[in-house]
Amino acid sequence: MAQLWGGRFTKETDKLVYNFNASISFDQKFYKQDIEGSKAHVAMLGKQGILTQDETQQITAALDEILADVESGKLAITDEYEDIHSFVEANLIDRLGDTGKKLHTGRSRNDQVALDMRLYTRAEVKETDELVKKLLETILGIMEEHTETIMPGFTHLQKAQPITLAHHMGAYFEMFKRDRLRLHDIYERMNYCPLGSGALAGTTYPLDRDYTAELLGFYGPTLNSMDGVSDRDYLIEYLSALATIMMHLSRFSEEVIIWNSNEYQFVEIDDAYSTGSSIMPQKKNPDIAELVRGKTGRVYGALVSLLTTMKGIPLAYNKDMQEDKELTFDAIDTVKGCLALFEGMLATMKFNKEVMRKSANHGFTNATDAADYLVNHGVPFRDAHGIIGQIVLYCIDKKIAIDDMSIEEFKQFSDVFEQDVYDAISMETCVNKRLTIGAPGKAAMENVIALERKYLNEN
Ligand code: ARG
Repeated sequence: MAQLWGGRFTKETDKLVYNFNASISFDQKFYKQDIEGSKAHVAMLGKQGILTQDETQQITAALDEILADVESGKLAITDEYEDIHSFVEANLIDRLGDTGKKLHTGRSRNDQVALDMRLYTRAEVKETDELVKKLLETILGIMEEHTETIMPGFTHLQKAQPITLAHHMGAYFEMFKRDRLRLHDIYERMNYCPLGSGALAGTTYPLDRDYTAELLGFYGPTLNSMDGVSDRDYLIEYLSALATIMMHLSRFSEEVIIWNSNEYQFVEIDDAYSTGSSIMPQKKNPDIAELVRGKTGRVYGALVSLLTTMKGIPLAYNKDMQEDKELTFDAIDTVKGCLALFEGMLATMKFNKEVMRKSANHGFTNATDAADYLVNHGVPFRDAHGIIGQIVLYCIDKKIAIDDMSIEEFKQFSDVFEQDVYDAISMETCVNKRLTIGAPGKAAMENVIALERKYLNEN
């Protein structure tokens, strides 16, 4: 048991207590950031004359060696140490003796861990953003290819009006674009350096906090040392953004599962992204989409867990905050995995255009446009609605689509109908007459696609 703080204690820590308290099993994840932070701290101590140049150089070189040894596997991170900070410092002292003991001058583990977690998360925010961007590229590619692929749009999971696959995909494009904007916002707010906050009240050494902040790529130092060691808002914001990404991925997965079902057959998930059944030879299951939908729960869990952990903590640092790590790491890894897999599944998915088109045709999705046809010929909308309702009933009975009716049949319901009704209620007309911004009409869709292509090129 290697601890940094035995001095004022008269007894050894009980083994169970030690294990309960230790965090090395999970905070070893940011060994790199811990060393990076220590190097910046030492460089600043040297610049301020708190350490000599020789000490600064020795400590920096030894920290580099420790990093290299960990990466090459020569030095194992074991649970002999309480946490990653103790591991690095103990190894430094092993290598440099008394000089190594000077590293922690003007620093507390409280500002150290606040820094490490921020550095680690900051990089993850960027990686998450890259993965969402890749997904957006794939979605936009599908949009560009399918501005004429007609499918039914749904409300209440009942066929409503015809749209295009480009339009449906475009809805997800907007959602994931907002997810990226959220990640960018969070980055802007979190990118301030807590190092130099000390345990809670700063320090009496003449630290240059601007300098360490700059060395570590932050916009500047945090402005209150108590807040610096106890702020976990940025994690809550990030988990909230991750939970929202999962909510979007989960909705999308649900649609893919429905579209891939035997009843719908709108899409076919590639064999590489499907799984079989151990007993039913005919099965090809959408397990990846189901798992993405399922894993949403644990990401929500991480958010609620941290919100709950933080809600009763008095200022400043309290050990409760060690609980900010495990579920956050799990949530980050889960979301990154889901984004990558979902993107791959989408990129390889086959869209059955014929089936989609037929489904739109046979779901009375042009009933609104048929009513509009009557309105355009002088029939009041309420009457038109009633007439088309009767036509729908008639068609259901005869198992035909509205446009399958002969003009004589149309005229039985209203003598306003003429030959041009067929063109007025064709799927193409229904879609392409919808030209307001954001609507599925081809010309409107192409405008949006051009804007989104520009956005992706520039961001
Ligand atoms: N493992 C601790 C954490 O994650 C590091 C900070 C310890 N500070 C302390 N005062 N015990 O929060």
